[in-house]
Amino acid sequence: MQHKFSRVAIIGLGYIGLPTAATLASRGVEVIGVDVNEHAVSMITQGKVHFSEPDLDMLVRAAVMTGKLRAVVTPEPAEAFIIAVPTPLADDKRPDLGYIDAAARSIAPVLEAGNLIVLESTSPVGTSARLSRQLAELRPDLTFPHAAGERSDIRIAYCPERILPGRMVLELVENDRIIGGLTPACAARADQLYRIFVKGACLLTDANTAELVKLTENAYRDVNIAFANELSMICDGMGLDVWRVIELSNRHPRVKILQPGPGVGGHCIAVDPWFIVDGMPEASRLIRTAREVNDSKPLHVIERIRRHAQRFKDPVIACLGLTYKPNVDDLRESPALEITAHIARERLGKVLAVEPHIARLPRELAEFDNLRFCDMSDALAEADIAVLLVDHAEFRAIEAKELLNKIVIDTRGFWRDRLYVPDRYGRAAAE
Ligand SMILES: NC(=O)c1ccc[n+]([C@@H]2O[C@H](COP(=O)([O-])OP(=O)(O)OC[C@H]3O[C@@H](n4cnc5c(N)ncnc54)[C@H](O)[C@@H]3O)[C@@H](O)[C@H]2O)c1
Repeated sequence: MQHKFSRVAIIGLGYIGLPTAATLASRGVEVIGVDVNEHAVSMITQGKVHFSEPDLDMLVRAAVMTGKLRAVVTPEPAEAFIIAVPTPLADDKRPDLGYIDAAARSIAPVLEAGNLIVLESTSPVGTSARLSRQLAELRPDLTFPHAAGERSDIRIAYCPERILPGRMVLELVENDRIIGGLTPACAARADQLYRIFVKGACLLTDANTAELVKLTENAYRDVNIAFANELSMICDGMGLDVWRVIELSNRHPRVKILQPGPGVGGHCIAVDPWFIVDGMPEASRLIRTAREVNDSKPLHVIERIRRHAQRFKDPVIACLGLTYKPNVDDLRESPALEITAHIARERLGKVLAVEPHIARLPRELAEFDNLRFCDMSDALAEADIAVLLVDHAEFRAIEAKELLNKIVIDTRGFWRDRLYVPDRYGRAAAE
């Protein structure tokens, strides 16, 4: 058994890397946090966080004050390197591995025999092996597991992350982890690292399986949400209440349909299934179609807004919520943001954008002269059409009387109980 880890470098201090760095530091490990973003490094150095996540600020402040976490822009030698850099989708819907490549180039000069490298970025199948080949080219003096197997100088494993924004600090410790080694010795070494802070089970497998497990989790969610979204479009066409149809269908003991929404956002579920499609296009017809169904849902909502807006001379449209999910400030890939921008761009009316979780209008909406950032009560007082896009807790407080005499388009089934014609979630008010 190799010795325990006393010095670990985390490459990429974003939503995943920073909580991981601070948690490891809280367990007494010396953590070198590396990020190319100088602003992030300077914030962390002051003990502050550059994005909002419950309890993370306290954890980071404590880690920095005790000297266990140090943020830098260039990697330094360590016993283990955890890579948590972005893996976005390129315009052609293919994975962009450029950030992983850059991270590999940056750690290559400081690698030493005996080191462990763990890739945490969500990645197409084969990426850990690709990382091993790439590092072998950069460091011909060291041996790597894709070629040297169990005798390699460097151990490489893949360990996907499945923490939920808003509960990251807790889930990082509590969730089960899948650890895929390029060899069994690689998996065993990574297991030693994660056991420092993970209370959940650490389940060992090979790297390719672990890579596909992460993609599978999100493709599963995407396909099931697509079913609900497709059903909502069918119900709209038939004049039926999708929420009631789902509620009643779910009384079957083996049926559990998810809830529809305005589309699928975030940079995981809306992105990761494409990594499977890219790897196996002919075998992944359902996964591709689900992606397309979910991507088409915002256009369906826009069409409904357009239809109602046409009935007014100068319609005022309140868009309630801009984030991709409730009770967070995350706008990435948000269908609510896409819908709001689209109706402003098309000039369907005067648009009032309401988002209690952010302080000012996001860049994507700043260009429109017919759009205003607005608080909830002003927007409701002025609007002819109220579009509920995100089920934030704040919007639950809205009373039925505030929605009276408005066209209500509720993409979340949130206000059913307070609309006067509940079985048509507002459509009946206009039609
Ligand atoms: N956020 C989530 O909820 C979540 C959940 C599961 C998996 N993931 C995956 O984890 C990975 C990281 O996601 P995230 O949300 O933390 O991203 P993020 O954008 O919040 O953070 C990534 C950080 O990496 C830094 N970075 C980029 N290139 C770098 C380099 N060469 N060297 C050092 N730092 C570099 C960026 O400046 C940024 O601060 C992605 O693959 C993502 O798909 C994210």
